[in-house]
Amino acid sequence: MAKKIFAANWKLNKSPNEARRFMGELSLEAKGNPQAFSNNQVLIFPSALAMEAVLSERSSQRLPIAVGLQNAHQQASGAFTGENSAAVLKEMGGEYVLLGHSERRSLFAETDEALANKLAFVQSLGLVPMLCIGESLNQREAGNTNAVLAEQLKNGLSKARPDLPLTIAYEPVWAIGTGRVATEEQVQETHAFVANALKELGQSGRPILYGGSVKADNAKSLIRIQNVDGFLVGGASLEVKSFMGIVLSGLE
Ligand code: PGA
Repeated sequence: MAKKIFAANWKLNKSPNEARRFMGELSLEAKGNPQAFSNNQVLIFPSALAMEAVLSERSSQRLPIAVGLQNAHQQASGAFTGENSAAVLKEMGGEYVLLGHSERRSLFAETDEALANKLAFVQSLGLVPMLCIGESLNQREAGNTNAVLAEQLKNGLSKARPDLPLTIAYEPVWAIGTGRVATEEQVQETHAFVANALKELGQSGRPILYGGSVKADNAKSLIRIQNVDGFLVGGASLEVKSFMGIVLSGLE
């Protein structure tokens, strides 16, 4: 059985010192419960300035986790002031790039077209893109959830290679950072829809993570739902204790 993926999206939180402290505590957890790290894939998306701290702690502590950027430009280098390079992440030893998080789409005007290019570039480097999709509350209430997700998938994956790794994170926008988690029924229905949409796009079998106010207590039931292959966690990933509570749901 494929490993469940437990991804921490730190957003614009944690300095290098704070990241090092987190990694130290996480490695104590890994020593105490190695199965939580070998039977699951634990993944951290630090902010770019804390990346070096996370990667160097990972290697000195021999922590079996993956690490990724929260966004990257669609080119390796050039006159793109303020951007981050996936090619540099590759050189540093990272593995994943998060793409199209709803905050990137709404606050930084990321378009599906740019995301398709970024995704193709990330795959070409041998890194794993994690494409985020999700509907707003208005879209859900208007009954447009499936249409919105289908469109985001079709456009975002328009240049994706079916033979290279790729993951999807379904995050209803209204559940992000709100404490309002989707019901089990909504998660089950929507993940089934996404799995089927991926199949129609020739991308079947891609891991589909759920995200949006995941906590240790709701993780236990959500992880059992078919087509839920892990979680993308914001707020509850900032403390080792609450993040580990979620990771442990993968062992049940
Ligand atoms: P949240 O964030 O867990 O704080 O809702 C999830 C995300 O934005 O990825």
